Amino acid sequence: MASHPDLDRFVAGLPKAELHVHIEGTLEPEQMFELAQRNGIGIPFDSVEALRAAYSFSRLQDFLDIYYRGADVLRTQADFRDLAAAYFDRAAADNVIHAEIFFDPQTHTDRGIAFDEVISGLLAGMADAEAKHGLTSKLILCFLRHLDEDAAFATLKAAEPWLGSIAAVGLDSSEVGHPPEKFARVFAAARELGLKRVAHAGEEGPPDYVWQALDELGVDRLDHGNRSLEDPALVTRLAREAMTLTVCPLSNLKLCVVGSLDAHPIEAMLRHGLRATVNSDDPAYFGGYVNDNYRALAATGGLRRADFATLARNSFHGSFLSDAEVTRHLAALDAYVEGAGAA
Ligand code: ADE
Ligand code: ZN
Repeated sequence: MASHPDLDRFVAGLPKAELHVHIEGTLEPEQMFELAQRNGIGIPFDSVEALRAAYSFSRLQDFLDIYYRGADVLRTQADFRDLAAAYFDRAAADNVIHAEIFFDPQTHTDRGIAFDEVISGLLAGMADAEAKHGLTSKLILCFLRHLDEDAAFATLKAAEPWLGSIAAVGLDSSEVGHPPEKFARVFAAARELGLKRVAHAGEEGPPDYVWQALDELGVDRLDHGNRSLEDPALVTRLAREAMTLTVCPLSNLKLCVVGSLDAHPIEAMLRHGLRATVNSDDPAYFGGYVNDNYRALAATGGLRRADFATLARNSFHGSFLSDAEVTRHLAALDAYVEGAGAA
């Protein structure tokens, strides 16, 4: 891939929001070993290098199997706080000024870790990041779609005392065979509670799952959405509704959703007028944080400065920030683009 130092610098400096990052997917091997030692837990790998070498996936499920095992080192409120702090330090270095982070409570409650332990640790890490970096954040509670509707309802119930600190519910884990409609009633209940709704759809699953996310779940934002491009009527609908897509290029590459970044659909999404954004998904597993994703796209040569500015602009438009906050961030972004001069 060709290197574009000017474009790399430009994209790295762009003020941006990150809208698709699983906090459990930011657990770096070094921190995994550290937490394993702190909690007296064994890891079936001899070294950080051996663990990293196991991160070779040919589809989503390969990754999920390792990701859920890795999360086992997370036990205490302090672990979740430290996990979040490490992510926010990296995000701040990438000029992320706002992040909306996913967490998977069932991954932890099913191991006997209390919901309150998980969420209180994450909220403490979020408050620390705002004080330290001025980086604001929101929390999105994801239901694991390979589990059943009752389990999702029980999770929503456990979240009730914390609703003031949760912006939205989401849907993640094994997509194929677990269509969005399976969770229509849980999402309706979440809506009644005043929560926004997002869902992974069209990562590996067919365009029909994207339609279901729109029509059965009433999502405010779509996670991935790649396979929407197979259905022209769906593309028209997404463009008309200015639906935000949280696209994750390096994740798509590592999970073989695309064969190469040159073949990545994000350029086509922009040309179709879709509100695409760039995100890292599970950066500790996929080889890069948000700026690595921007730079990897820059290296393909298919997108120009104006496109990257649009992608960053979309990240604020697609966020759950207030209109006033979005306007303020967009003004900072425009000042940065103007200050950077012509390409
Ligand atoms: N959980 C963590 N990362 C995920 C992804 N990319 N797709 C579905 N579930 C996930
Ligand atoms: Zn994801």
